[in-house]
Amino acid sequence: MLAPNTVNELYLGQARASGSTKDCMALYERWAETYDDEVTDEAQDYVAPVLVAQAAIQYGLSNGATNSIVLDAGCGTGLVGVALGLAKAKAIDGIDLSQPMLAIARKTGVYRDLTVADMNAPIAKADETYDVVSCVGTFTLGHVGPDPALRELVRVTKTKGIVVSTILEEIWVPGGFQAEVEKLKAEGLVKVVTEELIDYVKGHGDKAVLLILEKIDRT
Ligand SMILES: C[S@@+](CC[C@H](N)C(=O)[O-])C[C@H]1O[C@@H](n2cnc3c(N)ncnc32)[C@H](O)[C@@H]1O
Repeated sequence: MLAPNTVNELYLGQARASGSTKDCMALYERWAETYDDEVTDEAQDYVAPVLVAQAAIQYGLSNGATNSIVLDAGCGTGLVGVALGLAKAKAIDGIDLSQPMLAIARKTGVYRDLTVADMNAPIAKADETYDVVSCVGTFTLGHVGPDPALRELVRVTKTKGIVVSTILEEIWVPGGFQAEVEKLKAEGLVKVVTEELIDYVKGHGDKAVLLILEKIDRT
C-alpha cells in the first residue's frame, strides 16, 4: 500500500485543481506512467472503471452484443477498456486529450482505435456510430464540463444505445450536469435509465453519480 499524503495523493488533488486545459494536460503528462499503480492502490481504490463496465455490460452489452461498438471517452490509460474487455464487444475505440495517457492505453491492446480529442469541443466522430459510450473519471473538477460534452456523447451514440458516465458528486449540480441532463430530456433526446450515487475513489470516500442515458428513437 502506498503511504498516504505522498505525491500520489497530490496527483489526484492536482488534477482536480487544474485551472485550465493546459494545466490539466501538463499534469497528466507527469502522471501517465504511474497513474494505474496509484489509482488502483488500496489507498485510493478507484472502483469507478469496474463499476461502469459492469453497468455497461448489464444495460448495453447484455444481449449477446458481439456486434457492439463502444467508445470510451476520456479513456486515459485504458482502465475502462480493460474492464470492458470482459464483454464481447466487437470493438472499443478510445478518445482522450492526453497523448501520454493514450500511449499507455495503446499498450493494453484492447482498443481498436485511439485518438486525441478535446471533449470540451465538438468530437470528430460521425453521428450514430456507437452502441455504448463510456465516460469515467473525466467529468470531474478541472477536466470536462457538461456542455457540449454530454450532447456530443449522445450524438455519436446510436438510437437506443446508451451513454454510461460518472460525474463527481460535488459538481453534479453546481457544475451544471444535472441541468444539462434535464435539457437533453426536455428536447426528447434521451431518457434517464439510471442516476444513482456510487462509490468512486473509494479510499477517499469519494462518490459519483452513475448516469446512464438511453438515446431516444425520434423517427
Ligand atoms: C481521471 S482520468 C480518467 C481516465 C479513465 N477513464 C479512467 O477511468 O481511468 C481523466 C482523463 O480525462 C482526460 N481529459 C481531461 N481533460 C480532457 C479533455 N478536455 N478532453 C478529453 N479528455 C480529457 C485526461 O487526459 C485523463 O485521461
